[in-house]
Amino acid sequence: MSGGFGGIGGGFAGSRAANTPFAGIPSELRERVDAVQADEPDHGEPDAAFSQDVGEGRPLTLRRMLAPRRAGLVGALALVVAEVVTMQAGPLLTQVGIDRGIRDGERGVLTAVALIYLATVVANWGFAWARGAWTARIGEDLLERLRLRVFSHLQRLSLPFYEREPAGRIMTRMTSDVEALTQLFHEGLVQFAVQGFIVVFVTGALFILDPFLAVVTLLGVVPTMAVLTVWFRGRSDAAYRVVRQRIQDVVAHLAENLAGVRVVAAFSRHRHNVVVHRNTVGVYQDANLRTAKLAARYSGASELIGIAGQAVILAVGGWRVVQGQLTIGQLSAFVLYLTQLFAPIQQLVQVYNAYQRGQSGLRELRELLLIGPTVPEYREATALPPIEGEVRFEGVTFAYGHAEPVLHDIDLRIAPGETIALVGPTGSGKSTMVKLLARFYDPSQGRVLLDGHDLRDVRLSSLRRQLGTVPQEAFLFAGSIRDNVAFARPQASDRQVRDACEAVGLTGLLERLPLGLDTPCHERGVSLSAGERQLLALARAFLARPRVLILDEATSNLDLSSEARIERALQVVLRDRTAIVIAHRLSTAMRADRVVVLHDGRIDEVGSHHELVEAEGRYAQLYSTWRIHADGDAA
Ligand SMILES: Nc1ncnc2c1ncn2[C@@H]1O[C@H](COP(=O)(O)OP(=O)(O)OP(=O)(O)O)[C@@H](O)[C@H]1O
Ligand SMILES: [Mg+2]
Repeated sequence: MSGGFGGIGGGFAGSRAANTPFAGIPSELRERVDAVQADEPDHGEPDAAFSQDVGEGRPLTLRRMLAPRRAGLVGALALVVAEVVTMQAGPLLTQVGIDRGIRDGERGVLTAVALIYLATVVANWGFAWARGAWTARIGEDLLERLRLRVFSHLQRLSLPFYEREPAGRIMTRMTSDVEALTQLFHEGLVQFAVQGFIVVFVTGALFILDPFLAVVTLLGVVPTMAVLTVWFRGRSDAAYRVVRQRIQDVVAHLAENLAGVRVVAAFSRHRHNVVVHRNTVGVYQDANLRTAKLAARYSGASELIGIAGQAVILAVGGWRVVQGQLTIGQLSAFVLYLTQLFAPIQQLVQVYNAYQRGQSGLRELRELLLIGPTVPEYREATALPPIEGEVRFEGVTFAYGHAEPVLHDIDLRIAPGETIALVGPTGSGKSTMVKLLARFYDPSQGRVLLDGHDLRDVRLSSLRRQLGTVPQEAFLFAGSIRDNVAFARPQASDRQVRDACEAVGLTGLLERLPLGLDTPCHERGVSLSAGERQLLALARAFLARPRVLILDEATSNLDLSSEARIERALQVVLRDRTAIVIAHRLSTAMRADRVVVLHDGRIDEVGSHHELVEAEGRYAQLYSTWRIHADGDAA
């Protein structure tokens, strides 16, 4: 997509031949359309990698997440082995020191053993450092991918998902679920390898020191520990699930109250909210306390088993020393190793918790990632070539979800360059119709066509880049005014941004602001008035210069003189562009080429303002009511 729209005149002929249903631009408009196209910006592909593809591979699992970093993980494992061996060499060296150095009176051996001990400590520090740095890097890498994958998935999901899911729940996916995985990657998996290998190493050492004592240990202590651990696992599984559900409630309540902070203030609901929040937090606290109590009971009991085990080994081992079947050095090393055995088993249970939390976070994320867009982009979809702007609704019936249809059998053709005013009572389906045109939803029956292309056959990005929508609720992003105006066309020059602002009458505001275009818009533009926000949204659409412009009550918050100014500016911008304008103030409808009257989801009348007034139908009624009120307001 380069070369701009300038060279497109020729391209059109080709595209028209390939897509015969589109009859072409009426000859009287041809020249003006060409003039507009000569000046058209090129909305190139965005730089960031983002694909609308539905099937982004198989469901997310831990193994699939780790697979791409297999080589790095093998390296980490080697470092873990080195770390554990240097960490656990101590008791073996102690045994040699006692038996060969002290008992046999060999000072040289004693010194050598002490020096080697020192060396292993230093080496252990080095290995631990390298392992930590290495695994942190791998973990962060995996998390970055995951965050990006979830974010781009959220960007891809269709509107019905956002209408269904509370924002708080979506936020928890990105915060506590990803956080649970962070802990798993940073602590869990690494500790699993380290502690697991310690258990293996120590068990091996116990057998080397004294197979008999080792068997006693493994038969007496390990099964007790295992039973205890299994009990704990069963209980903590359930308890952690409750904790996770409760934190969702806390976040959801928080998010809702932050979003609705002004309504809260207006109705003085602070006290009530604090009470509700205290209850939500209280329930969460209870759930946390329950898991903490469980963990305390478990760690107390396992410590008890450990110390009792030491006493038994001291008795049995001491007896074997007396019998001459074991040296003192061996017994010392054995007892030292025994103390090293319990900590890792406990740690492994902790790791198991982290693993569980990570897995349930992963499960939530997997479910989220499995939700497909309800408006999918089909594999065979092609890029929509630069359009001329012919819009057609063919037998369109539409229902939200499984509800009753809100649009019935809509047939409408809008010629390129034509301005259509969509009027009708509240709830008659005006916004729904334009949402279908932007393909936020697909019709239940019938088709919506743009230049003869069924919207379902074209790539969404190529469609939306050529459509501009100014919604009733203007949304501003955190950033400067310039960023917000140039949202759809970031490469626009300052001059173009200024022109767009001037066209909608924002110059006064820009002059008043000390930083002009660089003034930051805070979250959602709260520091601007509702009308100013609408003006910015209009400037944004002006600058984007889409082929088809949709204005859904885009001027509803403006005073009459601002609206009149917008009307004039619109006439410049809309000339030769297809436009659908929804407005309750019929002054807009009067200037449109044709008026479409919707009633209860059906097209009731179509025609120019004068035709419809003469027809004395519903529009004529609407118009006379509006006239009376408008005159009343003016008086
Ligand atoms: N997301 C949605 N889910 C379910 N029903 C919806 C949704 N959006 C709108 N509706 C319903 O569809 C009908 C048409 O709504 P629509 O927003 O198209 O009306 P409208 O003509 O734009 O009204 P207004 O003039 O008030 O903006 C209404 O009855 C509304 O309740
Ligand atoms: Mg509406």
